[in-house]
Amino acid sequence: MKVLSVTAEVFPLVKTGGLADVAGALPAALVAEKIEMRTLVPGYPGVLAALEDAVEALTYGDLMGGPARLLSGRAGGLDVFALEASHLYDREGNPYLNAAGVDWPDNGLRFAALARAAADIGLGKVRGYKPSLIHGHDWQAGLVPAYLRYDDASGPPFVLTIHNLAFQGRFPREQLSAMGLPDHAFTIDGVEYFGDIGMLKAGILMADRVTTVSPTYAAEIASDAGGMGLGGLLKARGEALVGILNGLDTTVWDPLSDPLITKPYSAGRLSGRAANKAALQARFGLEIKPDAPLFGVVSRLTGQKGLDLLLAALPMLLEMGAQLVLVGSGDAQLEAGFAATSGVAPSRIGCVIGYDEVLGHQIQAGADALLVPSRFEPCGLTQLSALRYGAVPVVARTGGLADTVIDANPMAIASGVATGVQFAPIDQVSFDEALRRTIRLYRDKSIWSALQRNGMNTDVSWTASARRYAALYRDTRAKARSSGKPPSV
Ligand code: ADP
Ligand code: GLC
Repeated sequence: MKVLSVTAEVFPLVKTGGLADVAGALPAALVAEKIEMRTLVPGYPGVLAALEDAVEALTYGDLMGGPARLLSGRAGGLDVFALEASHLYDREGNPYLNAAGVDWPDNGLRFAALARAAADIGLGKVRGYKPSLIHGHDWQAGLVPAYLRYDDASGPPFVLTIHNLAFQGRFPREQLSAMGLPDHAFTIDGVEYFGDIGMLKAGILMADRVTTVSPTYAAEIASDAGGMGLGGLLKARGEALVGILNGLDTTVWDPLSDPLITKPYSAGRLSGRAANKAALQARFGLEIKPDAPLFGVVSRLTGQKGLDLLLAALPMLLEMGAQLVLVGSGDAQLEAGFAATSGVAPSRIGCVIGYDEVLGHQIQAGADALLVPSRFEPCGLTQLSALRYGAVPVVARTGGLADTVIDANPMAIASGVATGVQFAPIDQVSFDEALRRTIRLYRDKSIWSALQRNGMNTDVSWTASARRYAALYRDTRAKARSSGKPPSV
């Protein structure tokens, strides 16, 4: 079965967060399920530079304001369609933001173009390639089913995955015709959303199926409290909304063969972690102290991630003899907050502001515990890497964090299943208590190494979830067929 994946970012070509990891890992994971996945991605400079054996698959005289070409080829180990449209994508840096960190003003048109191209591929306009299903990611793919619907043509079924409901893709209604949508699309049963064009809303409403990246997040968002304005619509989709946990690319994240870390190790040879901890302390200029509990953070610095709670907890952590290493970037205020802390206790706290994949791996391999105090977290991938690398995850009990970490309460410890520390409610008092509890657990070497080993033995691969996606694709296609939607190849 051929599936077209539509995404604004994909590892290793372009990445700002976990969406890229997921879009990059799924195609390989689906091979075992006999799904051939091809990825449509905007032709940013880095994508076009990586493209090999490119063939022109489609040309546009005018796609949202300029000429464009769809190029088919290989890039970063993936089969891709790159949408070359210099007026939309020929910009260096972050795919969504300008150099000042502000959304590009034409983001509506930039991703409407991506959705338009996806719909055209679905409609069979590329010679020799017609997908049986389109799988779109986040708001950037939300208009795919709208183009299929208002073209009144018979396209393949569409599955939408929500990676983060906080990003909804809202644009002024004046852009409707520039996006190539008819006036009658602007209704509550169409793309209209609180007086604007709502791309994620359109996707949720019109997709054959909606998935999100963990079962708990699926339940949280189908409610007024967690729905961020879309809770009613998500609730109305009923059983069409399901949660499928993300996996990890276990070839990229493998402590036994990771070329980015100091010394390889495994659950059976945990002693190998000590060299990674010492190297990490040295890298961040911290005192090299094998017994100091070393906390790590690898994160975007935004309100979602709850790291303001960590800033407030730092005096307590220092008092308890702990150390902290962080690599992160995002909101200016949080960046400044963490940058300032390195100066307070340089032998105990090290913060690198920026995005650094190598440091991400080294922190997972060397830190004793990884902190993820998110206020909400659709799935989260860093706690999965932490499990795999024996960095005990300390997480807020929300979304995918709730689904992937087993709290080290006395019963779970006694039963030998605990893998980390969870806290709730998500506030300062319970976060501080979780940090104190983590340090108490750390001081008990046999409990701590059991937590590490349990985590490292947890299956965080894509195997089970790839099977779920494959089953969902097949079921969606079968239902679309029986409801009279003509199937494609
Ligand atoms: P989100 O997508 O919300 O940012 P995830 O946990 O799903 O959160 O995925 C984040 C991904 O980005 C992980 O692969 C993580 O290692 C990586 N990452 C985030 N921030 C940084 C950073 N500053 N440096 C290196 N890697 C980072
Ligand atoms: C989003 C979410 C994160 C999730 C990732 C990949 O960025 O914030 O929780 O893991 O997408 O699905």
